[in-house]
Amino acid sequence: MRAITGTDAEEAARRLTAGQLVALPTETVYGLGGNALDAGAVSRIFAAKNRPTFDPLILHQASADRILAYARSVPPAARQLADALWPGPLTLVLPRTDRVPDLVTAGLDTVALRVPAHPLIREVLERVKFPVAAPSANPFGFVSPVTAEHVAEQLAERIDYILDGGPCRVGLESTIVAVPGGTPTVLRKGGTAVETIEAILGQAVEVRTRGSSRPEAPGMLSSHYSPGIPIQLVERLQGAGTQVRAIVRFGGGPAERGPHDYDLSPGGDLAEAARNLFTVLRKLAAGGYTSAAVMLLPDRDLGRAINDRLRRAAH
Ligand code: TXA
Ligand code: MG
Repeated sequence: MRAITGTDAEEAARRLTAGQLVALPTETVYGLGGNALDAGAVSRIFAAKNRPTFDPLILHQASADRILAYARSVPPAARQLADALWPGPLTLVLPRTDRVPDLVTAGLDTVALRVPAHPLIREVLERVKFPVAAPSANPFGFVSPVTAEHVAEQLAERIDYILDGGPCRVGLESTIVAVPGGTPTVLRKGGTAVETIEAILGQAVEVRTRGSSRPEAPGMLSSHYSPGIPIQLVERLQGAGTQVRAIVRFGGGPAERGPHDYDLSPGGDLAEAARNLFTVLRKLAAGGYTSAAVMLLPDRDLGRAINDRLRRAAH
């Protein structure tokens, strides 16, 4: 099999309905979609990604009503976040109904739900009646894809169709918030800033970061996002990038920047840095470098999610 790339949402919907695997553009990253209610399709998703089955998947549908039908209960805080942020880069972890196959949730009593914003995936979701399970469309442990080309480079032989929606507008995976009924908890920092979530709820949320005693999202392993070369995180960059040692900066630098000196956002814009992050990590992986020095970003808003990915990349 070799995936065809196209822009036909109807064809994508038809293939999903037939149990095939289709890469889908979302505003965060590209997803590897399959019918979440079809156990065969779900197990093919795990196989295509080499993903361990202890790592549960996110279900996607076009509206809050359609996707929240898979939650057993929806606490008020979850409803508030859904109303304010969907469609958009937010995933809610809620108690699940029996309609969700165990394989999707890795046997957990909760399910991850999301309403994505990209118009093309929304067109697909409007056409299919089932929820679409879609992990990021990369082999397990690698950087998430933010273009159709990224998907094709790594997964073309393992999936049926790639729906090309252009470069992802956000560039970081969705923020995952568990709402068990008590204090909402951020399990993964992502495309919606923690500050935004706290402003909507009018209360502080718990953020389960690496190293905390309780586990975060099961798939958030420290070793993820590695570009395969040693990454040194620095507060301040000295010197220039070279053929062997690249540098990644933020917020501008010397006027003379060589080809091995990357800037996530010369103007110091966190949203732009988020959009560029995974593409730059891919360049570090493919550039023949033996190491890279990478500057951490300001630890606020999307900077927190970006720093989280950089720390994992450096692990
Ligand atoms: O932006 C996104 O969320 C993208 C696009 C395609 O929607 N999807 C994505 O999926 O990033 P994935 O599979 O790469 O990451 C999903 C994360 C994993 O870390 C998984 O462990 C966590 O969500 N997760 C899923 N269900 C969960 C649950 N019931 N409880 C806690 N974590 C859960
Ligand atoms: Mg992923």
